[in-house]
Amino acid sequence: MLNFEKKGINNICLVGMMGCGKSIIGHELGKYYKIKYIDSDKIIEEEVGESINDIFKNHGEIFFRNYEEKICKKLLNKKNCIISLGGGSVENLNIRNAIKKKSYSIYLKVDIGILYKRLKNSIKRPLLKNVNKKLKLEEIYTRRKEFYNNANLIVDNNYDKNQVMKIITNKLNFK
Ligand code: S3P
Repeated sequence: MLNFEKKGINNICLVGMMGCGKSIIGHELGKYYKIKYIDSDKIIEEEVGESINDIFKNHGEIFFRNYEEKICKKLLNKKNCIISLGGGSVENLNIRNAIKKKSYSIYLKVDIGILYKRLKNSIKRPLLKNVNKKLKLEEIYTRRKEFYNNANLIVDNNYDKNQVMKIITNKLNFK
């Protein structure tokens, strides 16, 4: 059992590029610690009543980013849970400040080549539609890496999810 209060944190949040495994690891951590797992994109989809793809298509990226700020700030205030934040959330200063306040952030780091392989057939990522996906991923990563690298813990998630779970839980259990 994780004693968040003792560690001076409200929750754990996962950050990283799309396709880096935030939902897989988030679910696993939730199961492991027997606490709730929340995905910011899922909440946005539920509230707006449309898929992320449709939100981008029907309302535009700025609408999505504003909504993302509102939801992430609200989620980051919650206690005793694992939160996965959409890949682009770290570009927003207010969200970065909310993360720093009382969350323990974990960056799941994955090589661009591997991200590309995981995402090349995905139709769920509006930012990768009708563009050279590899170049787009590189461009986005270049812009975001300094923010991702500010996380409390950085873990390579290129291959084995069990290995990643071991690293994270070891770190958290003894933190
Ligand atoms: C985005 C990542 C997506 C989703 C949206 C934009 C991004 O979330 O929020 O498509 O800007 O990187 P995941 O990181 O969960 O795929």
